[in-house]
Amino acid sequence: MTKFHLGWFTNFSNPPWNTTWAGDEGRTWANGELHVDFARSLERACFDYIMLEDSSMVSDAFEQTSRVDLKYGLYAPKHDPVTLVPLLTASTEHIGIIATCSTSFYPPWLLARRFSTLDHLSGGRVGWNVVTSSEDRAAQNYGMDKLAEHDQRYERADEFVDLVKQLWASWDEDAMVLDRETGTYVDHTKVHVTNFRGKYHASRGPLNLPRSPQGEPVICQAGGSPRGREFAARNAETILSAAKDPAAMKAFRDDIRMRMEKEGRDPDSCKIMFITQPVLADTESDARAKVERMTADVDSRIESALGHISALTEIDLSTYELDEEFPELSTNGHRTTLGDFLSYGNTPRKAALGWSMKNVHYVGTPDSVAEQMGETMDFVGGDGFLITGSIGRRYVGEITEGLVPALQRRGLVRTEYEHDMFRENLMSF
Ligand SMILES: Cc1cc2nc3c(=O)[nH]c(=O)nc-3n(C[C@H](O)[C@H](O)[C@H](O)COP(=O)(O)O)c2cc1C
Repeated sequence: MTKFHLGWFTNFSNPPWNTTWAGDEGRTWANGELHVDFARSLERACFDYIMLEDSSMVSDAFEQTSRVDLKYGLYAPKHDPVTLVPLLTASTEHIGIIATCSTSFYPPWLLARRFSTLDHLSGGRVGWNVVTSSEDRAAQNYGMDKLAEHDQRYERADEFVDLVKQLWASWDEDAMVLDRETGTYVDHTKVHVTNFRGKYHASRGPLNLPRSPQGEPVICQAGGSPRGREFAARNAETILSAAKDPAAMKAFRDDIRMRMEKEGRDPDSCKIMFITQPVLADTESDARAKVERMTADVDSRIESALGHISALTEIDLSTYELDEEFPELSTNGHRTTLGDFLSYGNTPRKAALGWSMKNVHYVGTPDSVAEQMGETMDFVGGDGFLITGSIGRRYVGEITEGLVPALQRRGLVRTEYEHDMFRENLMSF
């Protein structure tokens, strides 16, 4: 029996608004209360963290208009994740909150400062999901014509992370001396100029605030291409993986652990979390009926999946007939996601229908799903799951009040937090 961690990935999905149990969440989410309820519920269930995804665009890649993107709420509307962090950490005491920020758009000094502030305000409970961004449309919102080439974005990101870590370390832990005798608040010999001048980034440093409780916020990452994995092996302390089945999960985990060893890192110092969207109900047949209802509207599933993939890859998938075989497709955007999508079929219809249900691996009662998740984790070797799906109160409740207690009864997940800070909890088993 392998004990594992739990996180939640806010998977580019909006609160429910047109389902039976949606309440007024679709209209009122922007006031923050839905996110606060969400964080408190997950903390009650002892989740390690919430990963707040991000992107910076309203896409019009599909059909060259935003019709599908906005109709289904793909990638927008949403809040800036960084500004949600203090609200969520002030409403909770233990759970870690990870915000996504792009190395293609932030200046390193601003990012280092911002996350240091968040780590102080939260008592050491924040993390940074390092992304390089994938869309020229996002780049254009920041005044650029287009993003850098895929592998070069990771090279820039490697350098960016090096610099940010140096800035976080620019204040020694004991720099704040508060020495009444000499009248010294901060000892200047313990605050170090960074003077970083790289190929892509430069910053003088030091930061202008003391070292934060965790020293460095937890580093999270998600790209699965070879260059993405190299980056993750060097930097990440938790990785999101959308691997399809236990065999792919195990292969991904083994590969990352091997790469970490090559980098001289302890493979246990990174928790690889597998994305999944359990479908739960009182009985097995109710759960299967739920899946049937989820899959009934075939036209919407196809249209929104094609809109999603178009937005991420900036390939207009509306230009292909639904049953026409795809030609060779390539992207400067999300390569792993494009590969995953095409693995479900060689036509838009087949790929979209398979991909739209890709996260549904476990269907059943809380007890039967808990058992299956335990079996998967035993096979994979460990680390954890990242639940995804609607953050509406109804679905969150099914997870926190149904599934998690069933996992806890089996000893598969924690029943209380071991420590005060995010990294300590994440690395505690
Ligand atoms: C599960 C998952 C979650 C991701 N979340 C984000 C995100 O929130 N924001 C973002 O800009 N990119 C996100 N990405 C994209 C990755 O950070 C990366 O840029 C992308 O996958 C391209 O890298 P790759 O070609 O190495 O896969 C995510 C990717 C995956 C697989």
